[in-house]
Amino acid sequence: MPLDYEEILSWLREEDPARLEELWACADKVRVENVGDEVHLRGLIEISNHCRRRCGYCGLNAENLKVTRYRMTAEEILGCAVKAADYGYGTVVMQSGEDLALSGEFIAEVVSRIKSETDLAITLSLGERTDDELRLWREAGADRYLLRFETSNRAVYDKIHPPVGSTVSDRFSLLRRLGELGYEVGSGVMIGIPGTTYEDLACDIMKFAELDLDMIGVGPFISHPDTPLGSAAGVEGQVPNTEKMTYKVVALTRLVCPLTNIPSTTALATLNIAEGRELGLQRGANVVMPNMTPVEYRSLYKIYPAKACIKETSEECLACMAGRIRSLGRRPGLGRGDSANKLRRLKQETELR
Ligand code: 5AD
Ligand code: FES
Repeated sequence: MPLDYEEILSWLREEDPARLEELWACADKVRVENVGDEVHLRGLIEISNHCRRRCGYCGLNAENLKVTRYRMTAEEILGCAVKAADYGYGTVVMQSGEDLALSGEFIAEVVSRIKSETDLAITLSLGERTDDELRLWREAGADRYLLRFETSNRAVYDKIHPPVGSTVSDRFSLLRRLGELGYEVGSGVMIGIPGTTYEDLACDIMKFAELDLDMIGVGPFISHPDTPLGSAAGVEGQVPNTEKMTYKVVALTRLVCPLTNIPSTTALATLNIAEGRELGLQRGANVVMPNMTPVEYRSLYKIYPAKACIKETSEECLACMAGRIRSLGRRPGLGRGDSANKLRRLKQETELR
């Protein structure tokens, strides 16, 4: 449904419960019509918590000396991937801080080993890496890449992403480049970053459509005490980092990007452990990302406090997610769960040729 900026802004400000019920119902209908009732499961492997960046919001930032750092071996990652395939997941997501010790060659080797031993789709979420690395990984068989742009407010973005050396971070051009390399491209934002307004959030949602994203992950900003933003105050017109605001953004994202894959995120589950994931799935989302990280590392991948699924094992997350999906009358997705938006894009490109 084409919504313009003013309409998006007015939905973000909507507080009438009856009107919001209409928004949820509309997003749920658009979700069914475009991506169906399947909920795709992506096994998340947090392969390293080392990071060279100093992002103002993230607990893994290089200056947080309280973190015990770990890096999984190729064998450990492969073991998790094989287990994910045994569980029936269609995809594994390899995520880490921006860790240059995870070299181009190392990741390419792990990707091609997973590809030769399983039918899994592979999503990478390893931060801002060089063009050569991104190309190498794509050639090794990686299918998708996730890189959130976090906020479309450039001043706030620059403030919370201090440069590393002389490189200026330009995630929009990186996202474009990922598309050219043939990746399924995912991005997203945090909701309620101190310094961002309702207007900024409306621009973020407009940007999702403009970038024609295949996957869009959004979650509330959760303040971490050991980060620069841990004690930051909001600005005038500050958008709240609440559960309700997150559902509004999930629903509006579904309306403006009907074919995209949208996860019901762990950050949302962290705000409402009882039913955050379910409500996300009923208000536009069609993907969940059960955690596959070995339990000994999980608590060390603390991007924000009180993160959901910290103590559970992979088996427990599988059972938990499957139960939650069935309780909604939905079913776990079969196969890789490729983005319907990417398929539409490819078809359109072929027709133009
Ligand atoms: N609160 C919520 N989400 C966070 N992320 C990082 N730090 C936080 C936080 N404090 C999100 C970012 C990043 C993703 C991997 O996790 O959006 O892109
Ligand atoms: Fe991990 Fe529910 S998904 S405990």
